[in-house]
Amino acid sequence: MRLKDCHNFHDFRKLAKKRLPGPIFHYIDGGADDESTYRRNTLAFEQCDLVPDVLAGVSSIDLSVTVLGQKLDMPVYCSPTALQRLFHHQGERAVAAAAQKYGTLFGVSSLGTVSIEEIAQQVDTPQAYQFYFHKDRELNKVMLARAKSAGVPVMMLTVDSITGGNRERDLRTGFSIPFHLNFNGLVQFALKPAWAMNYFMHEKFSLPQLDSHVDMSAGVSSIGDYFTNMLDPSMNWDDVAQMVEQWDGQFCLKGVMSRQDARRAVEIGCTGIVVSNHGGRQLDGSRSSFDQLSEIVDEVGDEIDVLFDSGIQRGTHVLKALSIGAKAVGIGRMYLFALAAAGQVGVERALELMNKELERDMKLMGKTTIEQLSRNNLRFRQ
Ligand code: FNR
Ligand code: LAC
Repeated sequence: MRLKDCHNFHDFRKLAKKRLPGPIFHYIDGGADDESTYRRNTLAFEQCDLVPDVLAGVSSIDLSVTVLGQKLDMPVYCSPTALQRLFHHQGERAVAAAAQKYGTLFGVSSLGTVSIEEIAQQVDTPQAYQFYFHKDRELNKVMLARAKSAGVPVMMLTVDSITGGNRERDLRTGFSIPFHLNFNGLVQFALKPAWAMNYFMHEKFSLPQLDSHVDMSAGVSSIGDYFTNMLDPSMNWDDVAQMVEQWDGQFCLKGVMSRQDARRAVEIGCTGIVVSNHGGRQLDGSRSSFDQLSEIVDEVGDEIDVLFDSGIQRGTHVLKALSIGAKAVGIGRMYLFALAAAGQVGVERALELMNKELERDMKLMGKTTIEQLSRNNLRFRQ
């Protein structure tokens, strides 16, 4: 199987599974506990159906949207994800370049493996900086200041990860950062020599957003340990209100799931929220973000930009979320599997497929602009 044989999410996933050492594949692929929220995230789209219009004159389609002050050529962006150079040696550089090619936004994680400064230099497509709020307030201050001086236009504070989700696949595989050469690790390298060669031939693993304050040589830790030991569980609305004021720009909360939290986000001056359950990786048993989208759009959709992620695998999923009232939609695993499969050209192919699906589906829906999508073209099954 090769990249040109990848026609959808499942194909990218299959190729990524072939290329990656097991622990890394399962880190990307897995969710929390029984993974029920993870499964429901995508299933939720099946509960409603698109109702197309015909004879609408659809020879040219405009997929552009303006969200968080940024004009995007397509309504799909790359949600921030950690550790990308572990998945392919090109890591964040590949994702940034592919996002630029398709004129869209991408997020760089606090746990990114290329610095926000380097990425900001590399591309002029808008970058969102995904912020984890640490116990170490000094580190938070430095991170905010660095993002400002790098010219990052959008701050995206993740609020659903105050402690580590229970990723049982990671417990079983022993997945850790930096990727650790225990016996299991050595076996994995032996099984995936091409990945191992690339990993070792390129620059050493690092977390440049954090490395002024976090010593990576201090030993291995799991993602769950990082959340639990380093992030501040006392973070509250007052802390965030302060951050919003300090940032003084586009500020978005990622992981809002309730109507009342959406309201509070407006009250403290956020310009956007992402309705998200972190791809089912945190609180298992929480509602799918698609099921929760409409009540949040009803509450604040006229006041701030409501974005959406978790579970997107298809252009039609995107159109359903946009029809409910999301302004743009993020993908996570879809581009990560493509990154793992083939680096930059892989991510480009994922975005190209998404772009083509959107254009085709808009034509079949009888719509020429994203604003024309509305709840009128959706029906929920009983
Ligand atoms: C994530 N996600 C994530 N979110 C975040 O705020 N900071 C991060 O560092 C990461 N890291 C991360 C790593 C991996 C491997 C995955 C799969 C996800 C969550 C991500 O931004 C997004 O919310 C979900 O991936 C969306 O769900 P789908 O599209 O993967 O179903
Ligand atoms: C994850 C992180 C790092 O979901 O947000 O693994």
